Amino acid sequence: MKRYEVHPSNPAAPLQLASFEPAPLGDAQVAVAIKAVSLNYRDLLVTQNTYFGPIPDGRVPCSDGAGEVVAVGKSVKGLKPGDRVATLFFPDWQSGAPDGTAISGALGAESDGAFTERFISEERGLIKLPDSLSYAEAASLPCAAVTAWNALFEVGDLKPGQTVLLQGTGGVSIFGLQFAKAAGARVIITSSDDAKLARARKLGADHGINYKTNPAWEQEVLRLTEGLGVDVVLEVGGPGTLERSLMSVKIGGRIAYIGVLTGLAAQANPVMLIPKSASIHGIFVGSRAMFAAMLDAIAAHGIHPVVDREFPFAEAPAAFAHMRSGGHFGKIVIRVGS
Ligand SMILES: NC(=O)c1ccc[n+]([C@@H]2O[C@H](COP(=O)([O-])OP(=O)(O)OC[C@H]3O[C@@H](n4cnc5c(N)ncnc54)[C@H](OP(=O)(O)O)[C@@H]3O)[C@@H](O)[C@H]2O)c1
Repeated sequence: MKRYEVHPSNPAAPLQLASFEPAPLGDAQVAVAIKAVSLNYRDLLVTQNTYFGPIPDGRVPCSDGAGEVVAVGKSVKGLKPGDRVATLFFPDWQSGAPDGTAISGALGAESDGAFTERFISEERGLIKLPDSLSYAEAASLPCAAVTAWNALFEVGDLKPGQTVLLQGTGGVSIFGLQFAKAAGARVIITSSDDAKLARARKLGADHGINYKTNPAWEQEVLRLTEGLGVDVVLEVGGPGTLERSLMSVKIGGRIAYIGVLTGLAAQANPVMLIPKSASIHGIFVGSRAMFAAMLDAIAAHGIHPVVDREFPFAEAPAAFAHMRSGGHFGKIVIRVGS
């Protein structure tokens, strides 16, 4: 069997293809023939060893995989061979608020991830898929889609008719666009690229702002909202964008702090949260219960994840390079196995 491993101690070739023998299946475990994985910005950070914790050499990357169950242990009740499943980012966060146990063991960083021909998991670390999704589409969901869902509907408490601000056209933001429109919200999205903004409008975005040609984009957000600002912001940038999100959020609004695309430094002054009675809330993906609710909504609304491009297994380094270039719109998928 083949899998990819990261070797942060070797910056010249941090992603390496390796052979391995799958371990014998435990009674409570499930073996999955992974058919596709998707990339997240986090996977770039993992290969560079700039993610939250240190990454050991030999770690299998990628939190996001989908595939077919090929064997189950004696005590597995809810899955059987032939079932189509996706991985959970946090196998131990089943429902409710996160705690230290729930958010330990994240796939592809703290434990081995899904970029392997044979993924072995406890039953609780997998979720059954609706028939409407291909493996490539399903592999797009565990990190970016659950994060967008949590930010919009759990932390963001988004209601129909409210306005959402999305930054850029990467994985999280495009899921945010699809879910917010399905929920009857108004969407303002930013991008560095007018062609991507046109594509976002075709997906239902109400307004697009080019943040390169219009660096003071928060002024445009305020103009579009008659000076009021937006109800929910999905903050995927950080330094340089958070300051503008603080200006863009309305009285009583919510900023879901998700990403580090512009770095980890702290520059923004949160004082404007006081007169606005607004909040910033950190988001760390989400639980199985959120994933399940999201799958119901995906099936009910006929939503299909936007897959920018699929790469063959052997071309993983090219897929990572494509992600690093920022040229994508939505998700990048790598096919696994035959
Ligand atoms: N907290 C969590 O649980 C969680 C979960 C998922 C992701 N994240 C984080 O969220 C961020 C986004 O993740 P992702 O997987 O969606 O990334 P991604 O797909 O790689 O998104 C890249 C896109 O972000 C946009 N972007 C880059 N710099 C920007 C800026 N200064 N202002 C506005 N947009 C900018 C660009 O869009 P254009 O090309 O359109 O300009 C770029 O193509 C990452 O930092 C990731 O680590 C966090």
